Amino acid sequence: MTDDTRALEQRVAAMLAEISPVGRASGGGWSRFAWTDEDRVLREWFTAKSRELGLTVDVDRAGNIWSWWGGRPTPDRPGVTTGSHLDSVPGGGEFDGPLGVVSALAAVELLQDGGVVPEHPVGVVVFSDEEGARFGIACFGSRVLTGSLSAEEALSRRDAAGTTLSEALRAEGVDPEDYGADPDLVSVIGAHIELHVEQGVALGDLDAPVGVASHIWPHGRWEVTVAGEANHAGTTPMDRRSDAMVRASEFVLAVRDSAVAHDASATVGRLRVEPNGVNVIPSRVTASLDVRAPGEDAVEAVLDDVADFAPVRQSWTPGTWFDSRLREVVAEGAAEATGQELPVVGTGAGHDAGVLQNHGVPVSMLFVRNGTGASHTPAEHAELSDCALGVKALAGALVSVDRWLTTVQADTVQADAVQGVSRG
Ligand code: GLV
Ligand code: MN
Ligand code: MN
Repeated sequence: MTDDTRALEQRVAAMLAEISPVGRASGGGWSRFAWTDEDRVLREWFTAKSRELGLTVDVDRAGNIWSWWGGRPTPDRPGVTTGSHLDSVPGGGEFDGPLGVVSALAAVELLQDGGVVPEHPVGVVVFSDEEGARFGIACFGSRVLTGSLSAEEALSRRDAAGTTLSEALRAEGVDPEDYGADPDLVSVIGAHIELHVEQGVALGDLDAPVGVASHIWPHGRWEVTVAGEANHAGTTPMDRRSDAMVRASEFVLAVRDSAVAHDASATVGRLRVEPNGVNVIPSRVTASLDVRAPGEDAVEAVLDDVADFAPVRQSWTPGTWFDSRLREVVAEGAAEATGQELPVVGTGAGHDAGVLQNHGVPVSMLFVRNGTGASHTPAEHAELSDCALGVKALAGALVSVDRWLTTVQADTVQADAVQGVSRG
């Protein structure tokens, strides 16, 4: 192993270790939800790390943090951005989100140490509430940023304790009046690259430490409410009950059977039971539903099969194909930096990168091999040697994308001149 690889391993390990105690349960998993004490600690940590690297730290109107190297982006000098999220699912793993943030900081440091001076500002982003664990909609920060989720709808979402996002923001010193889309910022993102731990086994099967993403499956979240009647668990005869939990169980089984029949992935991961008493027949069960598939037809088929339960849509992300020109540029830069060809893989997991791509920003993703293939559990794992290669790949990609943006801009200026277009 070369010295620089060992240094990168240490850098990644040190940063992961610094945030490791935040939101860690004694059972081993990490629970880091948006706009909580844990989230604040992580945001402050990221801000401090960015400042150590001399970056300019901004928070956008949707609560995402952007740290700029080489000044803020402008229409004439759009940014090359990278990063991920620091929030987690309940009891999640150490790498989903943080690896992308830590790798982005390490890649910037690697380039700075190498004397690289990019032509475009390089931005490291921490998106807010990617998992949607608290307010129920995944990729909350990027959806609000791009306007695909309105501020009005976002601010009125409630967490399990009934707190609205508006109240949660106020408690963290953020004025909800200022919360919303930030089109000016989105328009100056020239290209975005998110590095993420792989959430499956494709790279392991291919014996490849790092890969580049082709696409994300279409996916969405729904909610089903099943009504029953509360009554005494000991005195109500079995044939005179209206038990919401029994009906909810039928729903769970119908979801499983339908997903199997249509080659989809569907999950009921959360139940809210009312009144939630051991000796009370449930009067209402609210169930989450997450459905994903390689194609939208299969997702629709599952929803048709459970239509009797009247699922209410919470969020939807169409199938996302990442920009193929950018993918080539990223793969080239990453291969040059690592000496390895990157395989192209798809994923069933959602990412802020998908939201940006669907909004017209050229986006690419790098995946780092996950030794267990597990994700959204503490069993998720990436070897440090693979993480170090991931940082190298990302640094190489940032350099090649910086160069690419210069050519794209030059081509645009030339085309405008030929057509007599004036910008202003
Ligand atoms: C996020 O990881 C998701 O795919 O739900
Ligand atoms: Mn996740
Ligand atoms: Mn993630």
